[in-house]
Amino acid sequence: MSSTPAITAPTSDLAPAASPPPAHVAIIMDGNGRWAQARGLPRIAGHRAGARAVRRTIEAALTHKVGWLTLYAFSSENWRRPRDEVSDLTALLRHYIKNEIAELAANGVRLRFIGEAGRFAADIQASLAEAERMTATNARLNLTIALSYGGRAEIIAAARLIACAVASGEIDPSELDEAAFARRLFTAGMPDPDLIIRTSGERRLSNFLLWQAAYAELIFLNVLWPDFGAAHFAEALADYASRERRFGARPA
Ligand code: IPE
Ligand code: IPE
Ligand code: MG
Repeated sequence: MSSTPAITAPTSDLAPAASPPPAHVAIIMDGNGRWAQARGLPRIAGHRAGARAVRRTIEAALTHKVGWLTLYAFSSENWRRPRDEVSDLTALLRHYIKNEIAELAANGVRLRFIGEAGRFAADIQASLAEAERMTATNARLNLTIALSYGGRAEIIAAARLIACAVASGEIDPSELDEAAFARRLFTAGMPDPDLIIRTSGERRLSNFLLWQAAYAELIFLNVLWPDFGAAHFAEALADYASRERRFGARPA
């Protein structure tokens, strides 16, 4: 009888192949409320400090030459928050776009917004469209902000478009594939995220990029979003670099 084959590979085979830098980093920016609460401040103070962390994060993405950065700023479900908090958040959004757009444009940032823009006030919708238009030819950093975004709502919207295309005879159901479905998502034309970071210690996706996250590496950090900065971004990139991505294939 033959002996049991050894299952331990030589050490050199165990060293994971370092991943190339992520092309697309997506961040669930969580913990603003707890940051404010810990300081005895109103929640809006946490959201304002969170906006400053957004600025630091964009700078870090530019420094590390990450081509795609997607930030989850407001979920479809966040409309359920108290009316005062929602109106503080929309006021902050108005202020942010007005004040940051020129600098973003000057830094070669292309802005996109994903989510149900139609749920915001008309002036906000107009300024989101204007920001996208103003930065449409930039290519240094593709910055996408998820606003009133929900992964399930996005998938349903795509399914509805497909159903209409089938009903009108434009698509044969047997020809529907992943690429044709992905072209109907808000993220059409964007690469899938390689790395998703969530701050605040919570370990869930909260309806973020459900389709696109299929093979993303996940990093959960015990830092509240307003405290996030260049060092955390670099730490996440280093953690990502040490991981071996397999996409279901046999390990290298
Ligand atoms: C994230 O911070 C910002 C939004 C969801 C708008 P939170 O407001 O969720 O902060 P916590 O989770 O209550 O600390
Ligand atoms: C997720 O955070 C949404 C954003 C960061 C914009 P939440 O604070 O809304 O998520 P839950 O409710 O803790 O899952
Ligand atoms: Mg939260």
